[in-house]
Amino acid sequence: MEKIRSRQVLLDELDESMTITGYLSLQAPYSPATDKACQWLILNFKGATASVERAGKKGAIPVEKLQPGDVVNRIYDFPPTLAKLTKVSPALLDNLQKRGFTKFQIEEEVHSATSPRQLTREHQEKVAEASVFIEMVEASVATHKEASGAVENMLDDARLGKINAEQVGSYVNQICEDGKGEALTAMASLQASDQTYAHCVEVGAIFQTAYLEICRYTGNKNIFTDLNQMTLAAFMHDFGKAKVPKEILDSTTRFERDSKEMNLMQSHPRFGAELLTDMGLPNYVINMAHYHHTKMDAGMKSSYPPADYGDVIFETRLLALVDVYQALIGKRKYKRAWTPPETIRYLASLSEIEFEESLYQHFVNALGKFPKSSLVQLSDLRTGFVMNVPEDKNLLERPQVAVVLDKDGEHFEHSELVDLSVELDLRIIKELDAQAVFGQHALDVFCRINVS
Ligand SMILES: [Fe+2]
Ligand SMILES: [Fe+2]
Repeated sequence: MEKIRSRQVLLDELDESMTITGYLSLQAPYSPATDKACQWLILNFKGATASVERAGKKGAIPVEKLQPGDVVNRIYDFPPTLAKLTKVSPALLDNLQKRGFTKFQIEEEVHSATSPRQLTREHQEKVAEASVFIEMVEASVATHKEASGAVENMLDDARLGKINAEQVGSYVNQICEDGKGEALTAMASLQASDQTYAHCVEVGAIFQTAYLEICRYTGNKNIFTDLNQMTLAAFMHDFGKAKVPKEILDSTTRFERDSKEMNLMQSHPRFGAELLTDMGLPNYVINMAHYHHTKMDAGMKSSYPPADYGDVIFETRLLALVDVYQALIGKRKYKRAWTPPETIRYLASLSEIEFEESLYQHFVNALGKFPKSSLVQLSDLRTGFVMNVPEDKNLLERPQVAVVLDKDGEHFEHSELVDLSVELDLRIIKELDAQAVFGQHALDVFCRINVS
């Protein structure tokens, strides 16, 4: 079957199966354009759009408005009357060479073994799923903010001896709304929060996402009575910090081993277990608060309180892994935010030291090697956000990617959804830090993706 694919090519890669949709790189005399070059462009490209720099300002103008001195960066949006300048032909190739055009955006038909109807329907389903996911992330921004603020209030209340179970429940309910857990998991890396209180919310969401997926694909029994209890258990894992003075909690100094401050900090799992016992929660929920810092190698400095690893239930071990994952992808005063893929790779190095290898494998199978919302670069140098975790666990390196930037870093208005499990000539060549590429706007850029 045939499918239309859009990509960038150089002059000597053009052939007659292609239609040019943009002239991207133009040599002199277009930069800056001479009087003659302007006349020629207006005559030949009337009705198209030019991306120009004029007096230091960048903008898109109709070609007819070009003036000598403009730096013409690209020409695109051709009306049908310009078909002679968009369908590649020997005459056009000759002309392009003479006129100094060097790089092009083209569309071409590609052949695939899949039947046309199947591919179209499957692709539409994937696009629909990706669109719903993007909408969920946008709809969860307020939930994340409110829930993080509520955690701070709850810890303050707990300091005064009040635990408002209803308030906890109402925020946990929101995280449990269909799809919100996954959306908040994605948001954790898109905004790399530095709020201590967002930690509980994000750990709750990531735990829910990972645990549900592990139970689904392994068929293992879910021990929680319902989704709310599951999320609540992870959400409240650090609530013992309510019994640690705020100055110690918020301090940026590293406390000495065995100091009073360090001992208090390291008591938060025990304090948490006491708090949850008082709330009448079941033993497995208490186990999660009590042992979420207990490592496989109990001799490690960072392992507390001492316990037999055999008494640490699977859910607690998974929570411990999620706890470290969230801390690394978040920003802290003493470190930058790590990208989800590099964090996943780093966690592999802790296997059989902090937790068993099989637990790590489950976590990777659930979140993928490139977790949803990771920013990645493809081998054709386009950049995009990961939209799914592949169902086939052998294809975790081949997720679906919504491309947002072309190889020169220019934004696409519409994001093509590239399914790497189908497009085998493409692959991910590296992960990128969404904050480094888009600054504070990473979450906005993600929410504005218009996928097709
Ligand atoms: Fe903790
Ligand atoms: Fe924690």
